[in-house]
Amino acid sequence: MIELKNICKSFVLGGEEIKALDNVSFNVKKGEFVSIIGPSGSGKSTLMNILGLLDVADKGEYILDNITIKNASDNTLSEIRNKKIGFIFQNFNLLPKLNAIENIQVPLMYRGIKHEESKKIAYEYLEKVGLKAREKHLPTQLSGGQQQRVAIARAIARKSRNNISR
Ligand SMILES: Nc1ncnc2c1ncn2[C@@H]1O[C@H](COP(=O)(O)OP(=O)(O)O)[C@@H](O)[C@H]1O
Ligand SMILES: [Mg+2]
Repeated sequence: MIELKNICKSFVLGGEEIKALDNVSFNVKKGEFVSIIGPSGSGKSTLMNILGLLDVADKGEYILDNITIKNASDNTLSEIRNKKIGFIFQNFNLLPKLNAIENIQVPLMYRGIKHEESKKIAYEYLEKVGLKAREKHLPTQLSGGQQQRVAIARAIARKSRNNISR
């Protein structure tokens, strides 16, 4: 599902080259849960940015669900990211003017799912994270843990398997 081969990424700052990733290779299979651990500055965020298609490697190969991520335009990367990747950020990054349901709906609507259907899916996932009674709450009206659960629902929300029409 995820294959990385010899990924390298360097940053040049003030004439000095920093090798953030030096020949990183690993695979993650479907259904596997993986944690990336390491000291501060060891390249975790750089690696996550590449895995999440927010940045591209200098060298090496990244294959995500049989798609080789190479020389893709920003638009193509955004489209793959929207369809395949869910982010839960440290600070949640919920949209402040949208309530819980609307926040979950956003990536679904970018995926081309119509408003009414995306709302149904959003309810389903809000219920999964135990926040059915908080649908109309804005992020500032939710506790930190509740905001995190909305962010989780947003990251994992998708059409149910028996309901996929592509
Ligand atoms: N945009 C950047 N420009 C220059 N150096 C960077 C940049 N981003 C990260 N680095 C450097 O790359 C290394 C890896 O950083 P990072 O991936 O953020 O580490 P981690 O998340 O494991 O703490 C660090 O030495 C950091 O200083
Ligand atoms: Mg980091």
